[in-house]
Amino acid sequence: MSFPFAREREYFPILQEKIQLSSCSQSALSKQVEAAIEEYTETLRHTGMDWMLWMEKVGVAKAEFAKLINAELDEIAVLSSVSDCASSVASALDFTGERSKIVTTEIDFPSLGHVWLAQQKRGATIRFIPEVNHCIPLVYYSESVDEQTLITSIPHVSYYNGFKQDLAQIAAIVHEKGSYLFVDAYQSAGGVAIDVKKTDVDFLTAGSQKFMLGIPGIAFLYVKKELAEKLEPTVTGWFGRVNPFAFDGKLLDFAEGARRFETGTPPMINGFAAAAAIQLLNEIGVERIETYLETLSQTAITYAQEKGLKVMSPTDISQKASNTAIYIPQASKAEAILKEKGIIVSARNDVIRIAPHFYNTEQEVIAAIDALVKLPANL
Ligand SMILES: Cc1ncc(COP(=O)(O)O)c(C=O)c1O
Repeated sequence: MSFPFAREREYFPILQEKIQLSSCSQSALSKQVEAAIEEYTETLRHTGMDWMLWMEKVGVAKAEFAKLINAELDEIAVLSSVSDCASSVASALDFTGERSKIVTTEIDFPSLGHVWLAQQKRGATIRFIPEVNHCIPLVYYSESVDEQTLITSIPHVSYYNGFKQDLAQIAAIVHEKGSYLFVDAYQSAGGVAIDVKKTDVDFLTAGSQKFMLGIPGIAFLYVKKELAEKLEPTVTGWFGRVNPFAFDGKLLDFAEGARRFETGTPPMINGFAAAAAIQLLNEIGVERIETYLETLSQTAITYAQEKGLKVMSPTDISQKASNTAIYIPQASKAEAILKEKGIIVSARNDVIRIAPHFYNTEQEVIAAIDALVKLPANL
């Protein structure tokens, strides 16, 4: 297979010495992101502080994220984690009326379950849609979402095995019942093309550390324009105000658009990193990345099966993203052994996740699988 990203691979120095296939957890550091982090520390070292520039960079990060998912700039809020984004949305919902149900899934990242369960105190009832082989059959949404459902929360892509869901189809099902759709896109943004307009999701969140090529500590929240104006989050702070710099502690007004979901001072250094990282993704184009990652997915599945390994991801690549999960009962130990050999993969429960990005080659995927095959039988 020809490798289409030879020039861009040069941006990632670690790849000269290591095989990094951990984009479902932490992607490789690019020279651009390293320089952006340095630019932030330079402002501290040389100017003491530079709020204008810091805010400008966070603004660039927001704009790049908006472009990545085909949203408008004022539909994006910036917070510190996906968990924070979910809490901020939950806090704006009223669970005391007829519609008090939250539908979520057993394949959501645990944090989402925690945020939704915490709403029980505020009147919510929670329904978890059960998984089948770590996937959710589409029909389960029609069966679970009803006229009492206020919000349905789903992962776009599963953190465990890369199972990918069809956002447009799910949005149509839940909207027919009058429910909002909240999407956790942390495992897809940057590796799978997302169009919030075409798919018609209501809320979508993603952090920067995984396929978005950044570092932890910053997450973005998309809120559909016409929705934001109707909602007033109670998890809030001065950056959610019309004019944060009015410094009026007695005035609880709400900024226009998604910014009302912001709370305190944005994560600045993370904003610098995210701006550079998402800029790079947008320059390359996520559609191109997604197509290439499908070929790596096919290689990973076919080769792992040939070698007798058990693949826990869907084997139809149209139903999965980059991450191929391979059953290894002592996965954490396996991760450590591979790390010593210079191969960075990510363990979750009983699987090793091989999650390449555009900068990885087919040979690297094969080398990681070969290393798994060579693991001692009793770890
Ligand atoms: C799909 C998904 N959602 C949420 C999270 C947690 O995000 P945060 O730590 O930003 O709350 C993770 C982390 O692995 C994840 O994979």
